[in-house]
Amino acid sequence: MSRSRRAGRAGAAALLALGTLAAGGWPAATQVAPQPASAVSQPEGWDDELRLVEPVDLHPAPDVIEIELEARVTEVEIAPGRTIEAWTYNGTLPGPFIRARVGDTLIVHFRNALPEATTIHWHGVRVPNEMDGAPGLTQALIEPGGTFRYEFVLRDAGTFWYHPHHSSSNQVGRGLYGPIVVSDPDEPAGFGDELMLVLSDISLDADGAVAAGDSGGSFGDLFGREGNVMLVNGRVRPTLRVHAGKPQRWRMVNAARARYFSLRPGRDAFVRIGGDGGLIARAEPLAVLDLVPGERADVVFTPPFPPGSVVPLRWRPVDRGYGTVFGRSAEPILDIETVDAPAVQAPRVEGELRAIARVDIDHAVHHTLDLTIDRADERVEMGINGVPYWDAEPLHARIGETHVWTVTNDSTFDHPFHLHGFFFQVLDAGRVLEWKDTVNVPVGSSLRLAIPFDERPGMWMYHCHILDHADVGMMGHLHVE
Ligand code: C2O
Ligand code: CU
Repeated sequence: MSRSRRAGRAGAAALLALGTLAAGGWPAATQVAPQPASAVSQPEGWDDELRLVEPVDLHPAPDVIEIELEARVTEVEIAPGRTIEAWTYNGTLPGPFIRARVGDTLIVHFRNALPEATTIHWHGVRVPNEMDGAPGLTQALIEPGGTFRYEFVLRDAGTFWYHPHHSSSNQVGRGLYGPIVVSDPDEPAGFGDELMLVLSDISLDADGAVAAGDSGGSFGDLFGREGNVMLVNGRVRPTLRVHAGKPQRWRMVNAARARYFSLRPGRDAFVRIGGDGGLIARAEPLAVLDLVPGERADVVFTPPFPPGSVVPLRWRPVDRGYGTVFGRSAEPILDIETVDAPAVQAPRVEGELRAIARVDIDHAVHHTLDLTIDRADERVEMGINGVPYWDAEPLHARIGETHVWTVTNDSTFDHPFHLHGFFFQVLDAGRVLEWKDTVNVPVGSSLRLAIPFDERPGMWMYHCHILDHADVGMMGHLHVE
């Protein structure tokens, strides 16, 4: 790797303001007035180690994206000289980065070259029901060698992702996931150069082989399978180059089966501007960014580190229930190399970002959902209202109706609750107004979710996005008609 740590210094001549009188009449200390951030660009090759492959668009129309996706077993390099046999879309980890504009049509010619059946779920995208990828509910399983054509309009701007919806913990855990960003030219912009970060992990055994999907047995089911190697854009501890003070817009998705990510990049470094369903109502400065499995964040990162330094961004242990922090410590997942050039200054992102109307719940239909864990003998069975998915009756909703779901967690683990097909607002106080499709329900808490059902009838799923929990029954379905 031939990287100059000195790049950028030449153009960044600092302005010296000597002997300025401070308000009190005393001469101020010698100051270097920082240049505006707009005067410098990101360091050369800043995101080289984090680049994601974009798919080839086969369609001539500017508002149609037509791609081929093949799920297959592939050798991928997760660190220089270190390869693993992952399950991939089109041979890359993560799968291709789909970028579109709001209103575009996405057509995906999917082929399953895996040794087992699969489907694709478009997490967070308001697709028609028959495109939702829920096997047995919205489509048949796509068997090995089989194909399926997905086609839908991308109605909302935001950060989304796609992943299998069959044997989910195993298939996602082996590497099947990819990001989608839908942009809207009418939204506020200029937050910084965009970077997509797919956070995940993978379980490797002593020989470097990917562990079996049922590794850890019922303990794995109960705790959720966290991999022992963390990955950012499919790589082990890659390096990102930044210029002190020069903002970058990070779009993040937590694509791990079970791992919660908690990041603290330094004082005033993160301002959150978006979540699952696009921009949030107003900018939210964050000391800690927590991202649960399935969830997304859109943040402005302003590098706070001294020029010429390399500072690791660390994953921090998150207490998501019994025993999940025991004996664990912080681990670096990404090295942030701040180039040796004077810091620049950018205006702080603050205030209103988007007008979001609060969901009117005056005539809402109410439901109560308790997230439950049963441990009969050696087996772990999870469910909703005490009933595992295979025994559950669907909830019902009418098109145009608004529901308020009270989701309660009296179990011993946190559960990230995800609803397919529709966004909700979390009614509980202290939150910035936003549209979400995945939210953490901590141990011993209740959240109220307000869900307006639009005109897309069909059978939709909801479930815990710790995929091991979903696989042992913590899922339900809902009939919209
Ligand atoms: Cu991201 Cu039903 O899942
Ligand atoms: Cu769970």
